[in-house]
Amino acid sequence: MAVLGLISLLLLQSLAVGTTFPDETIAEFSVNMYNNLRATGEDGNILFSPLSVTLAMGMMELGSRGTTLKEIRHSMGYDRLKNGLLKDLVSPRDFAAVTHLALINAVYFKGNWKSQFRPENTRTFSFTKDDESEVQIPMMYQQGEFYYGEFSDGSNEAGGIYQVLEIPYEGDEISMMLVLSRQEVPLATLEPLLKAQLIEEWANSVKKQKVEVYLPRFTVEQEIDLKDVLKALGITEVFTKNANLTALSDNKEIFLSKAIHKSFIEVNEEGSEAAATSGAQLFSPIASPFLDLYF
Ligand SMILES: *[C@@H]1O[C@H](CO)[C@@H](O)[C@H](O)[C@H]1NC(C)=O
Repeated sequence: MAVLGLISLLLLQSLAVGTTFPDETIAEFSVNMYNNLRATGEDGNILFSPLSVTLAMGMMELGSRGTTLKEIRHSMGYDRLKNGLLKDLVSPRDFAAVTHLALINAVYFKGNWKSQFRPENTRTFSFTKDDESEVQIPMMYQQGEFYYGEFSDGSNEAGGIYQVLEIPYEGDEISMMLVLSRQEVPLATLEPLLKAQLIEEWANSVKKQKVEVYLPRFTVEQEIDLKDVLKALGITEVFTKNANLTALSDNKEIFLSKAIHKSFIEVNEEGSEAAATSGAQLFSPIASPFLDLYF
């Protein structure tokens, strides 16, 4: 059900917009990371929280110096975050003379739909996956006024049309954005189009109208080692013996050995619940062999 990957990317993108981060930084980073995960991973769901990863790397940034620092700044676009949330959260002082550190960063979100789905309207549906296999899934249903739009991917296949729907949570500040390609068009044809700008265009172009919404009730859980993805995004030195983490520790041998990111999302009739934590493991051959960082 690759479609869920896109759903979650967009959900978390909207979550990020609800914070004090500049939208475009998160959106750009999300899309880059999504494309990298798609390129490096197997087929299947892609679930991650760009916000959690951004915060985690922001903490690494504070511990880094020299070219290690340059690489992180360049990939994450932190220059634009300087006056944002990150500055309020952590300061270089927090890392002074660190030899062993466990840093935890968790992002958690629970929201109720502004207009909830009635459980009695949920029915079991057959759902065709990209590999053409069928699964039975509980499909929620409601009719109402939602922001909706149809867009063209420029291809001739089935007119190249795909649908975008925004479902708001209570309070109207956060919404889930869903993208659905036509049944005969695999999601893979849409994915290459994904750009931060396009997400913005969707948000600006959808119009309020009466829509019949069918949405699967689902839970996705995923654990990814972000090492390869971060390397692909240009963050490489921090994973080598040349890592310059002198602002984090006096131990010059320290480097990042793993960057684990765990995320979870549940979407049901009432709304959704999502959580993410990122962890990084620092390796230092001298004093403490492993320095665990759980972001
Ligand atoms: C780390 O970077 C700083 C600032 O650029 C530099 O002075 C220092 O020599 C570097 N240290 C190591 C161990 O690479």
